[in-house]
Amino acid sequence: MSSQSTISMDELVALCKRRGFIFPASEIYGGLNGFWDYGPLGTELKNNLRDRWWQDMVRCSPTGPDGEPLSIVGVDTSIIQHPKVWEASGHVGGFNDPMQTCRHCKKLLRADHVADMLRESEWRHALLATLDAGDDASEVTVVAGALRNWAQRKGKKAAPGLALVRQVDEVTAALERRNGETIAVDELLALAAQITDGAPCPHCGGDLTAPRQFNLMFETYVGAVRDDDNKTYLRPETAQGIFLNYRNVLDTMRVKLPFGIAQIGKAFRNEVTPRNFIFRSREFEQMEVEWFCHPDDAPKWYEFWCAQRRDWWRSVGLGDDNLLLRSHDADELAHYAKTGCGTFDIEYRFPFTAPGYGELEGVAHRTSFDLEQHQEHARTKLEYFDQQRNERYLPHVIEPSGGLSRGVLAVLCEAYTPDPERPSKVYMKFHPRLAPIQAAVFPLVAKDGMPEIASKLYQQLRQRYVVQCDVKQNIGKRYARMDEAGTPYCFTVDSETLTDQTVTVRHRDTLQQERIALDAVGGFLAEQLAAS
Ligand code: GAP
Repeated sequence: MSSQSTISMDELVALCKRRGFIFPASEIYGGLNGFWDYGPLGTELKNNLRDRWWQDMVRCSPTGPDGEPLSIVGVDTSIIQHPKVWEASGHVGGFNDPMQTCRHCKKLLRADHVADMLRESEWRHALLATLDAGDDASEVTVVAGALRNWAQRKGKKAAPGLALVRQVDEVTAALERRNGETIAVDELLALAAQITDGAPCPHCGGDLTAPRQFNLMFETYVGAVRDDDNKTYLRPETAQGIFLNYRNVLDTMRVKLPFGIAQIGKAFRNEVTPRNFIFRSREFEQMEVEWFCHPDDAPKWYEFWCAQRRDWWRSVGLGDDNLLLRSHDADELAHYAKTGCGTFDIEYRFPFTAPGYGELEGVAHRTSFDLEQHQEHARTKLEYFDQQRNERYLPHVIEPSGGLSRGVLAVLCEAYTPDPERPSKVYMKFHPRLAPIQAAVFPLVAKDGMPEIASKLYQQLRQRYVVQCDVKQNIGKRYARMDEAGTPYCFTVDSETLTDQTVTVRHRDTLQQERIALDAVGGFLAEQLAAS
């Protein structure tokens, strides 16, 4: 793993495209902001992470504090549900982001992202570099001339909306009235933008409208008539499909409290500012468990799930140093978590957040909020009769809610390992069980019977593993391609194979090569993958 702050996202995005992990959606039409397509390797990687979660949460569920396996069952519910679901869940009224519009370039921005975006803004960096101001205070007498110069030349292109650029005489005159003073960078920027409150547009420097609420749900219509009676939404979270089926699962699966229902699937949010590759997109996948328990036991289960989920992310290869558990502040809590014991985020140090962290998964105490809401809005009894306690109640819910798409991004970032010594200059150090290609088979040269032996080995391995057989091109280039794909093992058939029935195994991470018997390759691979 490389230090996250030194990974260039541009280079990672370029590798993802070059090697067929992830492409912009509708690319040949210029793309569609916030939507991405997974290519052949990205699909394998995502499926591997998804399957690992399903295996570890549902089929072989975690062991609980009493040493017994937890009872968790899976569902796969509709993306489109009855519109009243989203009124009951609070999403119609409360699933909003504060949004601002730039009066100059008309771009929409999430109000709570503006400060961060401004810190990364190209025109701000260029302006500060011109002034040689760093992040400290500057002498007005020294910087006024440089500001004017920048505004009349580079600023016109870099920040056409900035007041300094549009009204250079007025703004510099206001600055010059303070000759002899020192001025802090933030104040200088506020003066350049001629605003006293808020921040200018990170894209062009223009001024922003006051924030207004914007509902994130995608609307659609069911049936031929497009009126309000037929309006509904694409689900913004997979969780509600679980709550809607809580009664069905209780009635059909002989489960008893505490138990969990798990789901993996797509969710849709019309994010105001999708950004950072697949980190914040408008269509993404979630992996959620709703864990139903007695209200008194909720704090215990909340702690259990926070630790369990952090350990799971470690088990798929994310480094300890890059993971952080953070409790939400009161003003960050979602509407359903307000009265519970809170929300814990499992955060990952993404290259674009480093040295800070960004949310990968949230573990929330949703109380009985959702069941209560559906009980009231659907007029259906959802209480549970607890025979052991002889008590009827609405269970509380602890919800570990992870992003599958965000998980893929974290796995890609963690794996990205620059290595100037290799022809590829970089390799993807995936956990072997997540690697999209688990092994490659190469004949050293495409003659002397080597392709035939390689093909036979490939036919045998592909029954159990994801394997590629690549016959042509120089061997260095074939290894380089597999390094970028993150293939942990390459088996090469060479002239020695013809005489002693052995092949070379090349280990991706160490570059070590060893010889093993041709008929031992299957066993070797099974052993290596089981040990990883
Ligand atoms: N059911 C609870 C819920 O949906 P959330 O914190 O809004 O909670 C859970 O979302 C996870 O879904 C996040 O931790 C993140 O990994 C992922 N996620 C949320 N919005 C996303 C987006 N726009 N793009 C990609 N992943 C997103």
